Amino acid sequence: MLGIIGGSGLTQLSNLDVSHREIVRTPYGEPSGPITFGQLCGKPAMFLARHGYGHTIPPHEVNYRANIWALWHKGVTSIISVASVGGIRADFQPGDIVIPSQIIDYTWGRSSTFHEGVGCTVTHIDFTEPYDRALREAVLLAASDVGVPAHSGGVYAATQGPRLETAAEINRLERDGADLVGMTGMPEAVLARELGIPYAAINVIANHAAGRADSKDGISFAAIEDVLRESMQRVRLVIERLAGCHAQVCEVND
Ligand code: HPA
Repeated sequence: MLGIIGGSGLTQLSNLDVSHREIVRTPYGEPSGPITFGQLCGKPAMFLARHGYGHTIPPHEVNYRANIWALWHKGVTSIISVASVGGIRADFQPGDIVIPSQIIDYTWGRSSTFHEGVGCTVTHIDFTEPYDRALREAVLLAASDVGVPAHSGGVYAATQGPRLETAAEINRLERDGADLVGMTGMPEAVLARELGIPYAAINVIANHAAGRADSKDGISFAAIEDVLRESMQRVRLVIERLAGCHAQVCEVND
């Protein structure tokens, strides 16, 4: 079953034909909220709002382990993570959709593995390619099928937040090779990998990153809201198309 984790701008999936909501208890504490189950384009799907349904949980306080474990426990077979980001690369404009291909993690103090605690053996996982290749390709195909332009590839920098970055930090991230910046991509991606769940991200460029283009003298939150309201409609189209094809996605992954 396809699972969607929605971030800022996507706290619900309006076209999800909801069957029920369930609060899942996990060994890691409370997820961000109940999981919403239903049918999307005739296929079963589940949805979780990363920041809670009232948008009350900041990026550094999201219980990523509980969220991923809860989706896994309910039988998710792949996860699409939707998140808004700042654009660093010059050709990433507000409103653009990016399917990132790599991650640099600058977060700290977040519980970022299931393999810790009493009795756990030390476990290392391969994370060379942090997003699932077949799922990324399926998202790109779904976007092209519904005529939604999407950039293929980009290096996602995960910052701690909740504050936005300084202009100098963005310059440093760019020197490091980052193309876009957000606060929630890690440890979500690695936790999905630890549980063997194919995971890919749909990132929406909400604004030029700090110090860039029209964010040269500051970032406008009013402008971000307008951009997200419009772009998330396109994201919904892509997800619906992907959900309709989800059985094929599973075949690719098996
Ligand atoms: N930086 C980090 N996270 C973000 C941004 C940003 O500029 N915009 C939206 N999420």
